[in-house]
Amino acid sequence: MELLRRPRRTRVSASIRDMVAENHLSVNDFIFPMFVQESSGIKIEIKSMPGIYRFSLDTLLEELKEVVDLGIKSICLFPNYPESKKDKYGSESLLPETLYLRCLSAIKEKFPQLAIMTDVALDPYSSDGHDGVVENGKILNDITVDILVKMAVAQAKAGADIIGPSDMMDGRVGAIRKGLDAEGFTDISIMSYTAKYASAFYGPFRDALDSAPKFGDKKTYQMNPANVKEALLEAELDYAEGADILMVKPAFSYLDVIKSLKDNFNIPISAYNVSGEYAMIKAASQNGWIDGEKAMLEMLISMKRAGADIILSYFAKEVALLLQK
Ligand code: PBG
Repeated sequence: MELLRRPRRTRVSASIRDMVAENHLSVNDFIFPMFVQESSGIKIEIKSMPGIYRFSLDTLLEELKEVVDLGIKSICLFPNYPESKKDKYGSESLLPETLYLRCLSAIKEKFPQLAIMTDVALDPYSSDGHDGVVENGKILNDITVDILVKMAVAQAKAGADIIGPSDMMDGRVGAIRKGLDAEGFTDISIMSYTAKYASAFYGPFRDALDSAPKFGDKKTYQMNPANVKEALLEAELDYAEGADILMVKPAFSYLDVIKSLKDNFNIPISAYNVSGEYAMIKAASQNGWIDGEKAMLEMLISMKRAGADIILSYFAKEVALLLQK
């Protein structure tokens, strides 16, 4: 055949393929989500997330040394609380000596260069297992936002660098921004969970935190997986309210949403490669059904291709190790 254009020419060797690769993974892209609980000497593997653990503060700090040595520059911390500490208003979250805030301070002290992202929502502290205050089966928006603002300020005081509201209440980004600024935390970023869908892919995470809703689901605040325009509306609001980074969650089934946000907003876009996405790859690979490492890399690069600047992923350590080779 006489062909002037032969796209296969740029695929002939690994060197040329690497040269023309349009997207790359870097350790700088990643935020590593980690789980912490009370007590000491604890390192419990999450059953549905092989290779991911719940730590106590002492073992978490040891683990963090490894994480930092791998070149990972940011983590996101989630706390597991016993039922006895939970109530309707998530009051535990605001106590100055509570586990979560103590951990943030301890991490900041030991690893000042590490960017710590926090989680702002009621669910780890809520006796209802919801992200907001529940009254007669309804999740109340405005009362919840008041608590979220206090939570964000407490976290900033404890050493958080990036506040991550994951609750999907209306108006929370603006309220948190105002609350942080009023306390002098003008340099603390907000990474808003902008388009957070009511997803079945959060299952393993709720195992890790024992935070599954006690009744119903999260569909009156998290988004319908059928919608993408609504994600743009959420993004417009979060942008207008002062969010510094917009997140899409989950990531893998929502690449189009990542792309839409990337095309329409000139601030960084992040993608949360959630627990269920991690669990699927681990399970299939443990069964010998797929090559776990290759599937992981393919999944992560698809997020970059879609436009994610930042990826929150339980694979962060594994990828960092691979990238070192
Ligand atoms: C809740 C929260 C969830 C996740 C992060 N923050 C779960 C939920 O909304 O029920 C999920 C993360 C994951 O699945 O990896 N505020």
